[in-house]
Amino acid sequence: MKKNNRRGFLQTFGTGIAGTLALPNLAIGTNQPAEIVDFTNHEIADSEAFWELVKTQFILAPELRYFNNASLGASPLYVQRHTQACREILDGFPSKYMWGGWKEEKEETRQLVADLLKVSNEEIALTHNTTEGMNLIARSFDLQPGDEVILADHEHTSGRVCWEVFQESKGVKLVRPTLPILPKTVEEVVDVYRKAITPKTKIISMCHIVNTNGMILPVKEVSKMAHEKGILVAVDGAQSAGMFELDLHDLGCDFYTASAHKWLFAPKGIGVFYAKEESQHHLKPLIVCRGYEDTSIRRLENYNTRNLPELLGLGAAVEFINQIGIKKIHQRSYELKNYFRTKIEENPAFNLKTPAHDDLSAAIQVVEVIGQDVQDIKKRLSEEYNIDCRPMSTFGLNALRISLSIYMTKADVDYLVEALVALSE
Ligand SMILES: Cc1ncc(COP(=O)(O)O)c(C=O)c1O
Repeated sequence: MKKNNRRGFLQTFGTGIAGTLALPNLAIGTNQPAEIVDFTNHEIADSEAFWELVKTQFILAPELRYFNNASLGASPLYVQRHTQACREILDGFPSKYMWGGWKEEKEETRQLVADLLKVSNEEIALTHNTTEGMNLIARSFDLQPGDEVILADHEHTSGRVCWEVFQESKGVKLVRPTLPILPKTVEEVVDVYRKAITPKTKIISMCHIVNTNGMILPVKEVSKMAHEKGILVAVDGAQSAGMFELDLHDLGCDFYTASAHKWLFAPKGIGVFYAKEESQHHLKPLIVCRGYEDTSIRRLENYNTRNLPELLGLGAAVEFINQIGIKKIHQRSYELKNYFRTKIEENPAFNLKTPAHDDLSAAIQVVEVIGQDVQDIKKRLSEEYNIDCRPMSTFGLNALRISLSIYMTKADVDYLVEALVALSE
C-alpha cells in the first residue's frame, strides 16, 4: 500500500474479501449485503436521505436501534473491509508486515489522526484506548506528598483510579470538586475549577464530555486559567473525539487521550493520544522494549508485537469521517440533539438531565422517565422495542443515556421517542 493510496488498496483487495465479510454479518443475522458508498462530494449531501445512506454503512443486528455509541461505536463497512484486508495480508506473511512492512501506512494513519485533530504528526501516539492514555499520564509524574491534582466528581473510573494508584498512594492530594449537573452557563463550570485551584495544584485532569450526563466541560477556558498558574491539563476525550470538529492546539490542553472505538468508528482496542510538543518531556512510556531510545512521541506506543490491522483500520475510520466531513458530523450531532430535545422537552413525562446550551452538550443526552425506574425502562426498551441505550444511576440520576451517532437517523429518533412515550404511560 503506497502513501495516499488507501482507497486504491481497498479496491484491489475489497472484491476478494466481500464474500468473507458476509460470514460474520450473517452470523449475527443481518440480511444486508451492503456495498461501500463513497461519500466524498455526494450529491444528496444536505438531506436526511444522506444520513439514511450513511446508516446503510453500519451493519447493525436486524431491527436494532443503537443509541449506545457512547459505550462502544460500530465500524462502517469501509473500516471493516479495510481492517479485514489488512488481517489477510498479515496472515499471508506475518513477519514481513508486523516488523517494518507497514511503517509507511502506520505513519499515514498517524498523519490522518493529526490532521483531524489539527495538530502535528509528532504530537500523536497510536495507543489502545483512553484508559491507557490516562494511565500513561498519571504514572509519568514524580509528584510529591502535598502536591494536588484536580479531578472533578464526574471523572470516569479510567481517569480516576490511575491517579489514586500512582499518585494518591504517595501522599498526593486528589481534589474532587462537585460539578453542577445542569449548569446554565460555561462560566458556572469554569468557576468550579477556579475555586479548586490552590498554589499546590500541579495537574488538572478532566473529561471533555462526561460519560454520566453528556455534559461538555470547558477545557479551553480551564486550560487558559491553569497555564497562567503553571498547571498542566490532561483531558479524557473518550466521548468527544469524532463527535466534534476539534482543534487541540486551540483547545489548549497539554494531553488528550481518546478511544477511537467510540465516535471515531475505528476497530475496537485502538486509541489516540495527543501530547503538546512542549509538554511531551513530562511523559514516560508505560511499556519499554526494543527501540526504547526513540525520543519522539512514538516511544509512547512501542509495544513490540501489536495488532496492526486494527491500527491501520483507524486510518480507514478517519478517511470515512473525512469523506463525510467532520464539520458536517459536528453539525449533525447538534441537529440530532435538538431534534430529540424538542420532541421531549415539553412532555411532562420526561426530565432532561443534560444541560441545554450547545456549549454544554451535544450528541449525548440523558433523560429521566418520571416515576419509572431506569433499569426497568432500559429492559423494556430492549425487549419490546429492540432499542439499546445505557441506564445511568450515579449522581442521583435515574435516567437513560441516549447517544445520537450519525448512524441513527431522525426516523430512529422518532421511533425512540414513541417508545419512550408509550413506556411512560
Ligand atoms: C469519559 C470516558 N473515559 C474513559 C472511558 C474508558 O474508555 P476505554 O475503555 O475505551 O479506555 C470511557 C468509556 O466509556 C468514558 O466514557
